[in-house]
Amino acid sequence: MKKVIQFLLICVVGFSLKSCYYDETLPAQEIPDGTVVTYKADIAPILTDCTTCHGGGVNPDLRNTQQAYNNLFPNYVTVGNPTNSKLYYNAPGNSNSVHANVGFNLDDTQLAYIKYWINHDAEYE
Ligand code: HEC
Repeated sequence: MKKVIQFLLICVVGFSLKSCYYDETLPAQEIPDGTVVTYKADIAPILTDCTTCHGGGVNPDLRNTQQAYNNLFPNYVTVGNPTNSKLYYNAPGNSNSVHANVGFNLDDTQLAYIKYWINHDAEYE
């Protein structure tokens, strides 16, 4: 009997997590124009998992929010041009990425934020 309850619990929890996941992966065009997206508030949190590799050994070095921001220019971000910006097209999860399998992918919303940010002046804050 306990097993059955456990099983049901796992189903319920699993199902609710799944619906959260879908809520968060909105397509790119759903970041409304006029949204203020900054490196400090929006982009840096997306990049926290990257430092396991981009932590000094592999460029770009993405440690330390302000320093990481400086390291992105000019080689990895071309303001106004995401398709020319390695931070966007080489990010894990982007179909054109140099990363084959790093253990995780950025989701569509995270990629959309990076794209939007590059298209809107790529401000620090
Ligand atoms: C498991 C290790 C690992 C993780 C995690 C990782 N990367 Fe990388 N990344 C690499 C390696 C290795 C290279 C160099 C690949 C090459 O030059 O062929 C690289 C290259 C890059 C480049 C530069 C590509 C170029 O053309 O110079 C960018 C930008 C980049 N990664 C962004 C990211 C971002 C953003 C994240 C997190 C969302 C991330 N990486 C997570 C290993 C990783």
